[in-house]
Amino acid sequence: MAAVLKLNDVCREYQRGNVPFFAVNHVSLSIEAGDFLNIIGRSGSGKSTLLNIAAGMLSPTSGSVELDGENLAGKDDATLSRLRNDKIGFVPQGASALPNLTILENVVLPFCLWPHGGDGEGAARLLLERFGISHLADSYPSELSGGELRRALIARALINRPRIVIADEPTSDLDVESSINIMEAFAKLNSEGVTLLLVSHDLDMLKFGKRVCTMSDGHLMDGNHLTDGQNP
Ligand SMILES: Nc1ncnc2c1ncn2[C@@H]1O[C@H](COP(=O)(O)OP(=O)(O)O)[C@@H](O)[C@H]1O
Ligand SMILES: [Mg+2]
Repeated sequence: MAAVLKLNDVCREYQRGNVPFFAVNHVSLSIEAGDFLNIIGRSGSGKSTLLNIAAGMLSPTSGSVELDGENLAGKDDATLSRLRNDKIGFVPQGASALPNLTILENVVLPFCLWPHGGDGEGAARLLLERFGISHLADSYPSELSGGELRRALIARALINRPRIVIADEPTSDLDVESSINIMEAFAKLNSEGVTLLLVSHDLDMLKFGKRVCTMSDGHLMDGNHLTDGQNP
């Protein structure tokens, strides 16, 4: 099966004081259509940096990213934005909604950023319905609970029918019931063919995915290398 997203020997180097270090250290990863990969790892291990690179929001200092067979390197900002908008549904860590727009307007926003055919508002309403928050379409973000808002942000990530949804700790700060609710929604999306790349802080949520990789000091390893009692 063709890879939807491929990272080839990707590094991201930063300075701490005057000392350079690799937040992401020679990571290669291939995500095929229909995959559901969870990445776990301790705080500071490089998960968000890796996800931002995978989502085309941050350039690697070396290595390359291929989205649907297309190398993201050297693309101008407009081309890159359009590619991201069409092919990736990204829910960044601590993602927030625009406070002065209603939930419906927030969800439909990525549809309006670039010309798309079809009925954006209708698609947004269907997504709100599927996530059980259609009654909140005209509410503002500050009026929603944490779990409701998170579902709205996932709906927003889906509005352009992306090839892959990338979400950074989508269940952080949520109670167990809301977390399970969101992970069940991801599992259902995956069963319908949506490809998923998630960073998860909660080991109990890994069962919803198909495979797990662990990030440690910028390195990505196959499988769950954390032992019981260690907090990712
Ligand atoms: N813009 C930046 N400049 C310098 N260091 C950074 C920057 N962004 C992240 N880092 C460092 O890179 C490491 C990985 O960060 P991050 O990817 O956010 O980790 P995680 O998401 O696993 O908690 C951390 O040590 C963090 O301090
Ligand atoms: Mg992070």
